[in-house]
Amino acid sequence: MSVLILAIESSCDDTSAAVVRDGVVLSNCVASQEAHRLYGGVVPEVASRAHQVHLIPVVDQALKEAVIEKTALSAIAFTRGPGLMGSLMVGVSFAKAMGLALHIPLIDVNHMRAHILAHFAEDPKPEFPFLSLTVSGGHTQLVVVRDFFEMTIIGQTIDDAAGEAFDKTGKLLGLDYPAGPLIDQLAQNGQPKFPFPEPKIEGLDFSFSGLKTSILYFLRKQIKAQPDFIQENLADICASVQHRIITILLNKLEQAVAQTGIKRVALAGGVSANSALRDGLKERALANQWEAFVPKFAYCTDNAAMVGVTAYYKYLIGQFAAQDVAPSPRLSMTL
Ligand code: KG4
Ligand code: ZN
Repeated sequence: MSVLILAIESSCDDTSAAVVRDGVVLSNCVASQEAHRLYGGVVPEVASRAHQVHLIPVVDQALKEAVIEKTALSAIAFTRGPGLMGSLMVGVSFAKAMGLALHIPLIDVNHMRAHILAHFAEDPKPEFPFLSLTVSGGHTQLVVVRDFFEMTIIGQTIDDAAGEAFDKTGKLLGLDYPAGPLIDQLAQNGQPKFPFPEPKIEGLDFSFSGLKTSILYFLRKQIKAQPDFIQENLADICASVQHRIITILLNKLEQAVAQTGIKRVALAGGVSANSALRDGLKERALANQWEAFVPKFAYCTDNAAMVGVTAYYKYLIGQFAAQDVAPSPRLSMTL
């Protein structure tokens, strides 16, 4: 008999539901919250209220697109953490209620692991072990993935995440939140002609806060001499910042490959939607004979398909959540 899982993702500001049959995604619906644009970032209270409004329609849509009746489901999966407490609470409570009503088990999923296991939603799937460069709005990690449930972080950011570096730069440039996709788009018409320094961080850890400061000082200085500097040079500034963020990421990845000897590499997380990062990874893979895996766009940013795929592998080994499971906003990647 096939395993049919309804998965819920509500860790931050995207409300998503997906139906996954035997690890294959049948539907993946996402309602993104526009309200945060007004505030220049995610407002936790606004996010949890919006999840309450969006969740039931998104679940109905996911079941409809998959042409599945609720009663056919084998389990309900949900993101337990990391994420915003109020946002996670909406998804966890919904999953518990639905599991109880349908008398089916619950499967709790770690959001960061789900980003990595999104690669198993499509073919070709990476073989183990592989190295994941997981880059999102809240995390920047280099992870050795030995198995579905055996992952070790070998490098991570000591301050801002890569997505935050994009978003905070966007704020300095007067762009809407989230700025990552906008900077990506604008950079396509620019040249990386402004040299921002690469931070000198030992080992496999990352740092992005110095970059943010150097962009701020650079802009202040330029605006003093030329008040419309940002408007006149927006595409080149975006291309320069993007180039620096991406070289920081890819240089560390190259170092991680050298250190571990693992030449199978994968991108994960929202920033893996960045076109220059995707191209950059492919170029380095070609030059260094790596086997590279880049997720399709729908599986880069937050989505429930990755939660459903992860839950399928937990279902196979009988790892279910207890009825009193609670959200875990700071859930560690290794749990
Ligand atoms: O994984 P995700 O959807 O949410 C978190 O778990 O954080 O990642 C969101 C982050 C945001 O910082 C957003 O600006 C960034 O991913 N992002 C991008 C692109 N698309 C999304 N950054 C650069 N280029 C993109 N195309
Ligand atoms: Zn995420």
